[in-house]
Amino acid sequence: MSNKATLQYGDKTYEFPVITGTENESAIEIGKLRAQTGLITYDEGYKNTGVTQSAITFLDGELGILRYRGYNIEELAGKASFVEVMYLVLYGELPTKAQLAAFENELTMHTLVHENLVKVFEVFPSRSHPMGQLMTMLSTLSSFYPESLNPNIKPEETNLTIIRLLAKMPTICAMIQKKGKGHPILYPQNKYDYVTNFLYMTFGNVSEEYVADPVIVDAMNKLLILHADHEQNCSAATVRIVGSSHANLYASIAAGVAALWGPRHGGANQEVLEMLEDIRDNYNGDVEKVVQEVKDRKRMLMGFGHRVYKNFDPRAKIIKVACDNILAKLGVNDPLLDIAKKLEQAALNDPFFVERKLYPNVDFYSGIIYKALGFPTQMFTVLFALGRLPGWISQWKEMRERKEDIGRPRQVYTGPTERPFVNIEDRK
Ligand code: CMC
Repeated sequence: MSNKATLQYGDKTYEFPVITGTENESAIEIGKLRAQTGLITYDEGYKNTGVTQSAITFLDGELGILRYRGYNIEELAGKASFVEVMYLVLYGELPTKAQLAAFENELTMHTLVHENLVKVFEVFPSRSHPMGQLMTMLSTLSSFYPESLNPNIKPEETNLTIIRLLAKMPTICAMIQKKGKGHPILYPQNKYDYVTNFLYMTFGNVSEEYVADPVIVDAMNKLLILHADHEQNCSAATVRIVGSSHANLYASIAAGVAALWGPRHGGANQEVLEMLEDIRDNYNGDVEKVVQEVKDRKRMLMGFGHRVYKNFDPRAKIIKVACDNILAKLGVNDPLLDIAKKLEQAALNDPFFVERKLYPNVDFYSGIIYKALGFPTQMFTVLFALGRLPGWISQWKEMRERKEDIGRPRQVYTGPTERPFVNIEDRK
């Protein structure tokens, strides 16, 4: 096949190169389009727009494939720890034992946050959402490391910022939960690994010895791995575009948290659980009625649909099985799981969803697990952010290493054409 695409416009013909990635997906490179033709492309929601060439994550929405650096998500979720996956996503290869030990040690050495950062929590009103707090905390971190504001620092210094951010994230997330409950915060303990430390700081208690439950540690590792990266989604694209102005890493990641918060993106995991509770409390579990309301456009089915997956979301498949196993192992019998399964079946058998290729996504079952593990609903999207952090950082790092231009889309202007200024006395 030709590696050129031809565009005919007016009486002229233009040729544009076609680039092809390692998995054979191709793109028309239109860098010179406007200069040559005077045209720009128009693609609301970037449904057909590639913004970078990335070597981090591959996904095939038709076949339901997701791979980080070439490794299938099913294998990673079944065999690796979250820290191994963080290393893989960030540095491109699975770590050797020595590399993993060194990486874990680096992370352990940076888990504490400045005491003044802890004081920031005092300004939040009691009902402030954990995601708002997370954004604030992450952007506030930049104040404690002003050297990270310099976009021209050496790669080792950038790596230190990366390690700091990864190491402090569980501490901050756990503090958000503790502060939300009005409980004293717990400081990190170097004897624990990354995930266990997070669980200790979140569920431990100053007055008692913490005993980690291997079922919970394993579940948490799996969930975080499944969220670790997802190529150019709304939040990753945000992180890249903010970083493309050479904004510092903390600010770029805080922007990613903001994008994730929305209910059409990561905020859906909170919304799913609230929807299931609503069905339990106000619909007497009648899922058919809810499906009808969705078809009548009275509500969205949260946790359903995906911009890229049009067959199934491989993460959702893994999470559904994990959900059954984890609840059984923990001895939790949650009626919301039954409602979720019935709702899924009702939707999958309905032409409205079949025709639109709407399937459960990663958020559909994850909340039921988070709830069983003991997280309050408002913390769910924070957990998504904790998992996604290595992905965002890798996207930011790749964008900077590729020396990408500042992100600056164009538009088709549809406002008024030029008109004379009207003095205030003459306005109607
Ligand atoms: N419930 C009801 N109808 C839906 C849903 C839904 N969850 N999702 C899409 N549709 C309909 C939509 O109304 C449209 O119908 P029509 O063609 O008749 O106008 C059709 O399906 C195609 O939808 P779309 O808006 O073109 O799909 P999209 O690819 O732009 O949006 C989405 C993807 C995830 C934003 C959307 O499916 C959605 O809002 N889902 C609910 C929120 C959710 O679960 N988000 C989590 C996404 S996965 C985790 C993550 O990465 O953030």
